[in-house]
Amino acid sequence: MNIPFSKVGKAGNELSYINDVLESGWLTTSTKAFQFEKYFADFVGARYACAVNSCTSALHLAAEAIGIGPEDKVLVPSLTFTASAEVIRYLGAHPVFMDVEYGTSLVSPSILREALKNHSGIKALVLVHYGGQSAIMTTPDGEGILDICNKNNIRLIEDAAHAFPTKYEDRYIGSFGDVTCFSFYANKTITTGEGGMLVTDNEEIYNRAKIMRLHGINHDVWERFITHKPSWKYDVVAPGFKYNMPDINAAIGLAQLEKADFFRDQRQRCAEFYREELEKIPVIDLPECTGPIENHSWHLFPIKIRPESKVLRDAFIELMAAEGIGTSVHYKPLHRMSYYEKTYNLKPEDYPNTEKIWERLVSLPIYPGLSDDELMYICKAIKKILL
Ligand SMILES: Cc1ncc(COP(=O)(O)O)c(C=O)c1O
Repeated sequence: MNIPFSKVGKAGNELSYINDVLESGWLTTSTKAFQFEKYFADFVGARYACAVNSCTSALHLAAEAIGIGPEDKVLVPSLTFTASAEVIRYLGAHPVFMDVEYGTSLVSPSILREALKNHSGIKALVLVHYGGQSAIMTTPDGEGILDICNKNNIRLIEDAAHAFPTKYEDRYIGSFGDVTCFSFYANKTITTGEGGMLVTDNEEIYNRAKIMRLHGINHDVWERFITHKPSWKYDVVAPGFKYNMPDINAAIGLAQLEKADFFRDQRQRCAEFYREELEKIPVIDLPECTGPIENHSWHLFPIKIRPESKVLRDAFIELMAAEGIGTSVHYKPLHRMSYYEKTYNLKPEDYPNTEKIWERLVSLPIYPGLSDDELMYICKAIKKILL
């Protein structure tokens, strides 16, 4: 058997929508991207969506639009991909790293409260919905993460790279904070190859992101294609970026969006299979699911191999590879990455849960096309290695 860590689901309307784009004679941002924005915003229940070429671009635009600037301090979990923190550095601001909970790998309200006690002058929080599970956003006693941010005047950027479609209680992620950023990278729950989406209910954030997404130009120059308006009469109001999503990518995104619920259900099937087969292995800690299982996008299925296991994480990954099974690790924490470690003089002992997680962490394959036979093969291999 050869089971890769990640594989994109079989095509639906992708080719047909790409064909529309090719026949239209205009390959970059236009009607398909606008349609993708509208359908995506409707799906998550947000007012505005801005399609871009990666989640990293969306995070950068989000941080810029909420006014993060030189020497500002922004809270970020250490257990994330570098994009969550690097965009803060793009703007000359400083990430302040936080620990996460052991069971969920999420920032909890109590971790956030502690971080705010220990650090003054925090301007914003980049909240990662790790693996596709939502952090605790609001609670009846007003102690959820969104509640704490509102009370302390902290702007909230949600890094939802893993979290589509993800719900907290009965609302989709994308309908809570100031601004939420999604990824459509090749291994994500829906993909455009490379791509991202910024969503917000805030008109000011949307307008700024839209302008900065294309060089700081004050109107949509691609309107020229659909409207025949003169395209040369524009102004540059800020030194913006080149982050727009081409229509070819949006065409794939539209077709993927149509299957988002089906893909999510298939991922849940994989997660349930793993839970049932692996829960009795004493040296494995399964990912804790705090809400209803249907609220989770199941982008990742990260297990933790306990230190009393006869085979530890690194050897486990090699033995799985020898069985033809791809795995990954999400993530080596940022406090252990040389750039952040040296720049901010970071010490592992300040992130005790993250340290414990990282040494034990392995992500198993999880994607819609993974068959029950393949899942059984993976589980048998895990048992062979660990028991
Ligand atoms: C948590 C997190 N944030 C941001 C990103 C960046 O996404 P993109 O590759 O679309 O820029 C990733 C990518 O994997 C991620 O895992």
